[in-house]
Amino acid sequence: MEVIIKDTVEEIGKIAARLVARQLNAKPDTVLGLATGSTPLGLYAELVRMHKEQGLDFSQVVSFNLDEYVGLPESHPQTYDYFMRENLFKHINISEHNTYIPSGTADNCEAFCEWYERRIKECGGIDLQILGIGSDGHIAFNEPSSSLGSRTRIKTLAKQTIDDNSRFFSSPEEVPIYAITMGVGTILEARKIILLASGQAKAAAVAAAVEGPVTSMVAASALQLHRDAMFILDREAAGELKMADYYEWVQAKMAHAP
Ligand code: GLP
Repeated sequence: MEVIIKDTVEEIGKIAARLVARQLNAKPDTVLGLATGSTPLGLYAELVRMHKEQGLDFSQVVSFNLDEYVGLPESHPQTYDYFMRENLFKHINISEHNTYIPSGTADNCEAFCEWYERRIKECGGIDLQILGIGSDGHIAFNEPSSSLGSRTRIKTLAKQTIDDNSRFFSSPEEVPIYAITMGVGTILEARKIILLASGQAKAAAVAAAVEGPVTSMVAASALQLHRDAMFILDREAAGELKMADYYEWVQAKMAHAP
């Protein structure tokens, strides 16, 4: 696992965007796994800038989003579908039929989840997965006690997540209780994973994920089992890491490594 610590949240977005751009340049038909939330906003803004100013090409890219609230009407501004269109898709040249987002209004949720998993496989699997982290250590909406082998399914949100996400709604009562989410097992199959975190509110979850035991109580700790997972953190989110000095030392020395 690689841990990169930067001074500011802006730097996190820029580094992540450079890594995404490198991936797209190496494989123009990359399958991207995408996340929502406030954390990846800087990454998306930088990708939009790179597309507009440097011609970063998304024409062959396929994307799969991690999750979606269940039950919000399609036009609701807090759907992740709306978020992705507003913050990324409508500003770049990705084809709409190549962007997959779980449906929160499917009549047969179980059949939809099976189809979503199948579609990821049919597209060749996720090459690069972007993740945020919840303050309870969740990735996507894999709340504490989610099986580390879980697949795309419906999940009941934790009280803490509802409270955290209520800032986007007019009241906590308006936050949906259920979501469709890729499972931890689905996420671990991505070839490369980049988790972004910023702010002091994420420090405990990040420390548990990076330095704690692998446990279903902290879904992000499952990334310790992945061969190519990277945490890109600002100083506040890295604030509770016991080995922070070592990670920074590694980064400084890596350029000269044999
Ligand atoms: C939501 C999403 C997660 C995201 C998390 C953190 O619960 N399902 O994918 O990582 O929030 O969000 P934020 O980046 O806004 O802190």
